[in-house]
Amino acid sequence: MAKDKKLGIGIDFGTTNLLVYVQGHGIIFDEPSVVAFDIETGDVIAGGTDAFNMIGKTHSKIRVSKPLRDGVISDMDAAQALLKYVFKRVQTLRSLKNSLCLICCPSEVTQIEREALKELALQMGITDAFIEEEIKSGAIGSGIDIYSPEAAMIIDLGGGTTDVGVLSLGDVVLSKSIRIAGNYIDQEIIKHVHKQHNLVIGPITAEKVKTEISTLIPNDKEKKLLISGRDLVTGLPSAATISSKEIFELLLPIFGEITNVVYTVLEQTPPELASDIVRKGITVEGGGALIPGIKEYFEKALNLKVRTATEALRVVVEGTKVLLKNRGSYLVNPQD
Ligand SMILES: Nc1ncnc2c1ncn2[C@@H]1O[C@H](COP(=O)(O)OP(=O)(O)OP(=O)(O)O)[C@@H](O)[C@H]1O
Ligand SMILES: [Mg+2]
Repeated sequence: MAKDKKLGIGIDFGTTNLLVYVQGHGIIFDEPSVVAFDIETGDVIAGGTDAFNMIGKTHSKIRVSKPLRDGVISDMDAAQALLKYVFKRVQTLRSLKNSLCLICCPSEVTQIEREALKELALQMGITDAFIEEEIKSGAIGSGIDIYSPEAAMIIDLGGGTTDVGVLSLGDVVLSKSIRIAGNYIDQEIIKHVHKQHNLVIGPITAEKVKTEISTLIPNDKEKKLLISGRDLVTGLPSAATISSKEIFELLLPIFGEITNVVYTVLEQTPPELASDIVRKGITVEGGGALIPGIKEYFEKALNLKVRTATEALRVVVEGTKVLLKNRGSYLVNPQD
């Protein structure tokens, strides 16, 4: 590796998923943003998928935490512990000496929190660290040339927040973030099942319902899913069948609210940039972009061209490859 070049490490620190890219190795971590601690010693017992599998099943000596909630850091200790956990994973592949780390986090994460994450990276032995908006990295990762003077509009439907942004000449011109995203939909599914099926279900079951049978296609072929939980009346374990039609009805008002936010951003967009958006259309990314019919839904609601990113869950980490290279990190292999 050239002496003046640094090893690039790109991180998408999302509310639901944490992804890590290391130059020369590709994406080495793509797991839930969850960490588990031993309460007595404070040690990290598990991170990512292993910690996720402990949710709701722990005893009094284990604490499982999701560091981010609604796009903000709600547990700084857990955020730092999880970052440390992934840096240790990187260290099993490469030394952190002479490295450059980019951490992408949701727009609502405060400056103080960003500094704390950066500081932690430096403490772990990273030579240089910087923070970027996830929407900027996501736009690049979805294949948009954000450095061109032509504006682009992105809708990132994540777990904690939906971010709507307009980018031009390499940066975010304006953006808006709302806490109506994947986790909110899960909560609405929990409420719906409670009310309509007299069944208490947990967030993991609700997420399963969303990822397996949600649809935004009117009159879509009906899918059904058997779900289990606790009967509201008897208090005993019970099951119910939920249909995609119910989820479609539930999603409509939620997406109505998201559409209103997109309208607000469009209204605030300077006219020259707005005309680029009319010509080029909008890109939808993040896990929510996987909901069937989302492209057609937004096309109809906004009367604009829409495309969904091909690797909707990986666009942010993909974008870090370009951002790191622009900062002078060493590109070991352009295919990585
Ligand atoms: N097939 C699917 N259909 C609907 N939603 C999905 C699908 N797959 C994943 N999701 C949802 O996408 C969300 C995760 O997306 P993503 O990884 O982009 O979020 P994040 O980056 O962790 O969150 P944020 O950007 O808000 O901090 C979760 O709520 C997840 O349930
Ligand atoms: Mg995200």
